[in-house]
Amino acid sequence: MALTARTHRQLAEKESAALIQQANDTHPGDTSAGDKPRAEPFTRSYLGARPSDAVGDITAVTIAQPTPADATSMARVHILSALDLYLGLPTPGDALGFALASMTPRKEGYWPALVAQGDPGLFVARSAEGNVLGLAHAVIAEDGTGEIGALYVLPSAQSRGIGARLMEAMLEYFGPSVVHVGTTAGSPAEAVYKRYGFKKFGPPTETPPPLGEYGIEAPQQWLVRPSAECGNLAGNP
Ligand SMILES: CC(C)(COP(=O)(O)OP(=O)(O)OC[C@H]1O[C@@H](n2cnc3c(N)ncnc32)[C@H](O)[C@@H]1OP(=O)(O)O)[C@@H](O)C(=O)NCCC(=O)NCCS
Repeated sequence: MALTARTHRQLAEKESAALIQQANDTHPGDTSAGDKPRAEPFTRSYLGARPSDAVGDITAVTIAQPTPADATSMARVHILSALDLYLGLPTPGDALGFALASMTPRKEGYWPALVAQGDPGLFVARSAEGNVLGLAHAVIAEDGTGEIGALYVLPSAQSRGIGARLMEAMLEYFGPSVVHVGTTAGSPAEAVYKRYGFKKFGPPTETPPPLGEYGIEAPQQWLVRPSAECGNLAGNP
């Protein structure tokens, strides 16, 4: 069942290939670049702190569906959050190189493409100033099972309840469905998912190839949250 949901995500990534190329032609992190063709790869300045990263009044943070104007910020939040995770692993390899050379061009294409499709399972957390602090993607497969495709909070905004609010938005969207998620084994996210009733589903799988190519050791752990209707984990009598 998880494979169906995963296939959905793979297809969505494939569909964004044209936009990935488009993202390679501009430098979204450098506002001075304007519409000029991008001659250099993404640089550290793309990942540097920005005033728009400020959380501000946490009680004013809202959860909403993204608009196209949010899409490049979503990519950057995803990349910064994942980079922070990889840098915290026992074997982070060249996490920075991976973020800049591999992840950034892909995600700068992926998120705008997905947002443009108006996917109702997408959520962003916005500061009072309207800046994106976190994002989530809830995917419902054809067989009705759910998969968390993404849950990322800007590192500087973590541990303040934003991830919990994004998770609650996804769980409401999923309704009583069984929900799967794949995440880095042993990561803080794994602990967060367990707090929401997810249980490990099988042994960790291998590090995905794009990460392994940069020397990052990040085996993936699949977790499942049973249907709220039957309240029973897959495999239990
Ligand atoms: C996972 C993540 C989204 C959580 O976001 P967050 O805003 O920091 O989470 P919150 O502050 O809302 O905390 C949510 C719950 O998890 C708990 N929690 C947060 N970090 C935790 C940690 N490191 N270990 C254990 N529990 C943790 C909190 O106590 C809270 O539980 P509570 O509501 O019962 O108190 C965030 O850490 C992140 O972006 N991580 C990197 C990206 C990642 O691995 N994403 C998953 C990929 S699918």
